[in-house]
Amino acid sequence: MMFVTVYVACEAVLARISLVVQVSPSIDELAKLQDVVNDVVRSNLPIHLFSLDRSEAEELYGASIYDSAPVPSDISQLGLVYIAGLEFNAVTPDAAIAARTGAVGSIVIKKTKYNSKKRGWLDLTVSVAQSNAAPDLAQAVADVAQLPTQETIAALNPTPAEKPVSAGHATPTAAAAAASSSGGSQSASAPAGKAAPAPAAPTEVLPAAAAGSAADKEQVVNPWDVEAGEDGVDYDKLIRDFGCSAITPDLINTVESITKRRAHRFLRRGLFFSHRDLGLLLERYVRGEKFYLYTGRGPSSESLHMGHLIPFQFTQYLQEAFDVPLVIQLTDDEKFLWKDLELEECYRLGKENAKDIIACGFKENKTFIFSDLDYYGHMYRNILSIQKAVTHNQVKGIFGFTGSDCIGKQAFPATQAAPSFPSTFPVHFKGQTNLLCLIPQAIDQDPYFRMTRDVAPKLKFEKPALIHSKFFPALQGHKTKMSASQANSAIYVTDTAASIKKKINKFAFSGGGATEELQREHGANTEVDVAFQYLTFFLEDDKELEEIRVDYSSGAMLTGEVKARLIAVVQGLVADHQEARKLATDETVERFMAIRELDF
Ligand code: TYM
Repeated sequence: MMFVTVYVACEAVLARISLVVQVSPSIDELAKLQDVVNDVVRSNLPIHLFSLDRSEAEELYGASIYDSAPVPSDISQLGLVYIAGLEFNAVTPDAAIAARTGAVGSIVIKKTKYNSKKRGWLDLTVSVAQSNAAPDLAQAVADVAQLPTQETIAALNPTPAEKPVSAGHATPTAAAAAASSSGGSQSASAPAGKAAPAPAAPTEVLPAAAAGSAADKEQVVNPWDVEAGEDGVDYDKLIRDFGCSAITPDLINTVESITKRRAHRFLRRGLFFSHRDLGLLLERYVRGEKFYLYTGRGPSSESLHMGHLIPFQFTQYLQEAFDVPLVIQLTDDEKFLWKDLELEECYRLGKENAKDIIACGFKENKTFIFSDLDYYGHMYRNILSIQKAVTHNQVKGIFGFTGSDCIGKQAFPATQAAPSFPSTFPVHFKGQTNLLCLIPQAIDQDPYFRMTRDVAPKLKFEKPALIHSKFFPALQGHKTKMSASQANSAIYVTDTAASIKKKINKFAFSGGGATEELQREHGANTEVDVAFQYLTFFLEDDKELEEIRVDYSSGAMLTGEVKARLIAVVQGLVADHQEARKLATDETVERFMAIRELDF
């Protein structure tokens, strides 16, 4: 069965769904459809509502924004409803749309009517559980920076001719999940035709637990788990699902022209691949506004692994290139709440990890490293404001918390959000509360900062800009990230040269042929070959990297040779790191962690 688009129009607890199918569906297919819809509901996907001038919207996206529920021709300003990966449609600007798909509650298909003459129309009557009787409403924003691209929409929207006529409603929303308000009790808090009240729900929030469209069961990316399908993490899909923006060559050129130096290899090679508002931050920086950097570490192991070096090395480059101050949060509280570790052990690990962080080369006079346990009191005012502005349902939706998660976990996201606002550091920033903030991180941390960005306007704070890296893969392959909790998946910055050699030779997943003969004949798949992938992160020389790629893919080079090159690169890097770490004593850590004015 093929279905094109699903619309829901709620009338009390019954709703009507219309879709186009080629043949009348069987009972099994209907059950499957019900599951798909309920997956979308359960995933609680964010529903964005953009407001755009009609002619601009038509120019950008063409006629595909309209379905058969026409927007009256005298309306010049459109509402554009967007669910990443699922739907994009024009509605009247005063349509009240639920903020998230979960507002509908699960559905049960009650009745079906198939009309083969009418282009294969299937009308379904469904009962709606209405888990949330008064849903938060999507925020009407004129934030063009967040509008999906034309390509995204072209891929999403079938041509208007293919679209089914929805059940005569003026606000058809998407995928059986957006609570269309026309007279329906779904949106009791905002009757049809009335402007949405001040939004109570985040608009960038995607449940970490779902992390991707509900249809893709294989890919999970959140602060605690990274699991991908056979082809590894699909980063394009993450950009679409999370609603962030790809880093374009133009943006890299802008960075190079502002900093007057070549972009870091992580940027040149697309390893930092996505962002939120980086272009805007750079524009404002060029106009004379200042920014600071914020990043962090959750101390759960004695030392960092090579994956952790990615955001820290990149942050070090940014600090140097832009000459800006930096704050680094050690979330010892987070690790106490999530791991089976004593609180004092988390605190100790944080201080040990601080040595590895300092060894990355941060400037002491511009860097403040802080433990949450030490600095919490100073952040508490902002933490409280954030806690007051985010509901239990919102953190549940974003992070997938359940009733059996301790209340500490539910309160923690506000602690990771607070350093995004300069007023959290009155001494360090000399009372300047107008600094912008840029947060380098791997994409797993994005849920924390989607929440932060949603809450910022409510507190009259600036939204922080974000820049995301891909994951440094586990030794076993690109289906998951290198993780401190799986010793054999990781190379630690404290590993000896012998252990590095052994781990790479023994565990690094090979994309090469199983035998020398097969490798010579067919060459390697460098996309999945862990040794080659590691070289893309750490081999500085672009030319050598390209030569290895060509030779290894063609079979001229063998897996053993690539691994040998990687072993030399990693041993060199780790030896340098260990030398630098020796210089980071307890006293050095204390100096970095002292509350003091930073130079900027
Ligand atoms: P944590 O300790 O899990 O990770 C620290 C930083 O390293 C990134 N990271 C990776 N990057 C590339 N490849 C990997 N395999 C890999 N594994 C981890 C993480 O994304 C993170 O940037 N809650 C956070 C600590 C934190 C934080 C922040 C991080 C507090 N405030 C602000 C970034 C920005 C945590 O436990 O990170």
